[in-house]
Order: sequence, then C-alpha cells, then structure tokens
Amino acid sequence: MELKEVLGLRRSIRFVKPYKPVEPEKIQMMFEAARIASHWGNVQSLRGVAVFRDSAPEEVLQQVTGLVMGWQIKIAPVTIVWYVQPEAVDEQADRLREVTRAGAMGFGGPEARMKALEEKLIPLFDGILEGAKAPGMNEVDCGQGIAQATLMAYDLGLGTCCLGTPNGPGILKALGVSGQARLLFLQTVGYPLEEREAGGQRPRMPFEKLFHMNTTNTPYPRDDDVVEYLTDEGFFTEPGPLPYRDDELEFVKQALGLEGDGLL
Ligand SMILES: Cc1cc2nc3c(=O)[nH]c(=O)nc-3n(C[C@H](O)[C@H](O)[C@H](O)COP(=O)(O)O)c2cc1C
Repeated sequence: MELKEVLGLRRSIRFVKPYKPVEPEKIQMMFEAARIASHWGNVQSLRGVAVFRDSAPEEVLQQVTGLVMGWQIKIAPVTIVWYVQPEAVDEQADRLREVTRAGAMGFGGPEARMKALEEKLIPLFDGILEGAKAPGMNEVDCGQGIAQATLMAYDLGLGTCCLGTPNGPGILKALGVSGQARLLFLQTVGYPLEEREAGGQRPRMPFEKLFHMNTTNTPYPRDDDVVEYLTDEGFFTEPGPLPYRDDELEFVKQALGLEGDGLL
C-alpha cells in the first residue's frame, strides 16, 4: 500500500479478531517505527510495553482491562501501554553529542561542531532541563512515535485503537515502571474483524477552520484539484456511515458476544 492509502485508511479499529494472535515480530516492527521518529534534542522519552493477552501476568491484565471501554482491551490480543519517561531529559547532553557527531546538527567540520555544541548549545539547554520534563514537548514527540507505529501496524494489516485510562499509576506500577513516568494511553492491536473502512471516513472539522496562511485571518486556500488527486490516490474515502454500517455493527456485536451499546 502507498503511504497515501495507509494514511487514508488509518482509522480506529475497535473490533478485532479475538482468536487471531498478533505475531511478536509485527509488534517489534511497530516499536522499530516508533524508535526512529523525531524527538526534540534527540531525547527519546517514548516508552512502550506490549501486553500480550495470552502470556502477561494476571495482575498486569487486571490493571489494564479494568476501565471504561474495557471490552476493547479484553478482545484485543495485544495492548500497548505507551508512556513518557521524563528522566530521559537528564541524558539530553549525551543525545546531542551523538546526533552532532552523526552530522545531523550544525555544519562545518566535526571539531568545530562539537566545540560549538559543548560551549554554546549544551550550556543553553542546561538551564531549562527541569522545566523540559513537564508535560508538553515530550508528549508531542511521543505522539509522533506512536503515529509512526500506528502507520506501520496498518501497513502490516493490523488494526489499532487508542484508549485513555484513569488508571495510569496502577498500570505503570504493575508493569514495574518507576520514577516520573506518565502513562499516555493504551493502544489495542489486533487483526480487524470489521472492514478496513470501519464504517467510512470519520467526520473532521472543515479544513479552512483548522489551517491558515500567513496569519489566522486567511484560511489556507484549499485547491479542489488537490482534493481530487488525493481522492484518486485512495487518500480520501467515502464518508461514514457506509450503507451497511449498522448491519456490520450488529454483526460484530453478536460475534463478540458484546452487551449494551458499547459506549461505556
Ligand atoms: C490519544 C487518543 C486517545 C483516545 N482515547 C479514546 C478513549 O479513551 N476511548 C475511546 O473510545 N476512543 C478513544 N480514542 C479514539 C478516538 O475516539 C478516535 O480517534 C476518533 O473518534 C476518530 O476516529 P479515527 O481514529 O478512526 O479517525 C482516542 C484516540 C486518541 C488519538
């Protein structure tokens, strides 16, 4: 699949095949995608623990499943617990040294680059490191990593769904995570039971309301030809709900033995 198609068809898959295990190698590929994402100062504060429903300790499963929309976690063969490790910021100087040595920052010869780094950039960052552990930029970077993992999952034929949890501390404790770590969210992973379209393209706010040119007075001009091109490339798909969606939802509800309306 082309990236445009993966982007266009990437949507939350809530209904997965409970009987079909996810290969550990595919989870590894998701983690590999997350690992190479960009991060400010190359700090790399994103962490993930893949909880396999069939092999995780009972205590971990209990902590992970006991929440709103817990049915999604119960049916998913794998749930990834994504969290941010702010202490990664403490090693930022070393990360900057690595990235500068690799030729990814600055210009001129290696010696000049390293000298400027030690004398200018690292002292500049030293003063802001504690503040940089607060929620903000690290979370943005974690989001980029998770987005890459998500696209990898879709390219591998998997479906995923992000789920918030009020039980961050309990889950992290059960996983053996210590320090200032903050749980971001859980991501279920499995083979889709619903169609890849999952009911159709989800509604989004108007483009012009979200994006602008030069100042917020001018909505970013949206060229219809570009929209048409992206539609032809498989990026834009039919808006939901597709005509068969209600039947599909009833079908998956019966197949999975779910009760109620599934919203809580
Ligand atoms: C960070 C994040 C957290 C989310 N948390 C929840 C959640 O707690 N419960 C839930 O049902 N859906 C959750 N979702 C899924 C969103 O409801 C979903 O992304 C949205 O409806 C748009 O659908 P789409 O992902 O298919 O584009 C979350 C999504 C993201 C990105």
